[in-house]
Amino acid sequence: MAERTLVLIKPDAMVKHLAGNIITDLYTLNLKMIALKLSKVSRELAEMHYSEHKGKPFFEDLIKHLTGELHNNEKVIAIVYEGENAVQKVRDAIGKTNPDECIPWTIRGKYGKINTKTNCHETVIHASDSPENAKREIDLWFDKDEIVE
Ligand code: PPS
Repeated sequence: MAERTLVLIKPDAMVKHLAGNIITDLYTLNLKMIALKLSKVSRELAEMHYSEHKGKPFFEDLIKHLTGELHNNEKVIAIVYEGENAVQKVRDAIGKTNPDECIPWTIRGKYGKINTKTNCHETVIHASDSPENAKREIDLWFDKDEIVE
């Protein structure tokens, strides 16, 4: 069954001009792109997106990262992909959360790093971790009429 997933190309990737490389990598998964937009992320949206991590020690860094505060106030590219097993396919392609532990040819393995000055995990990309979270996240980031089927 066709599944949907949300991808966010984060401000650390935008500041390094990596959006094109990341989208090219994701094309190899043969999923259908059904929505895409550039977004200046408000603190409110970032807090809603990461609501399950509220209270964790890295929460404030996470919010500052997504809003662009740590990366020249850069924006985020949000994309919805659709296809069989889309959530797992994208998660496999991006690699583990900690860039230091990633297989080198995954997206985070290639482009991610831990910034030793800010201690921010510059993971370059977010992808939904389950179909349930994908639905919640897509509804948060996109209006129904922005999805092009
Ligand atoms: S947990 O506790 O296992 O659920 O957390 P985890 O899945 O490892 O990480 C959740 C998101 O937090 C990001 N993260 C960080 N961002 C910035 N700085 C630090 N120190 C940090 N530690 C974890 C991690 O990249 C996940 O973000 P997304 O956007 O979902 O990849």
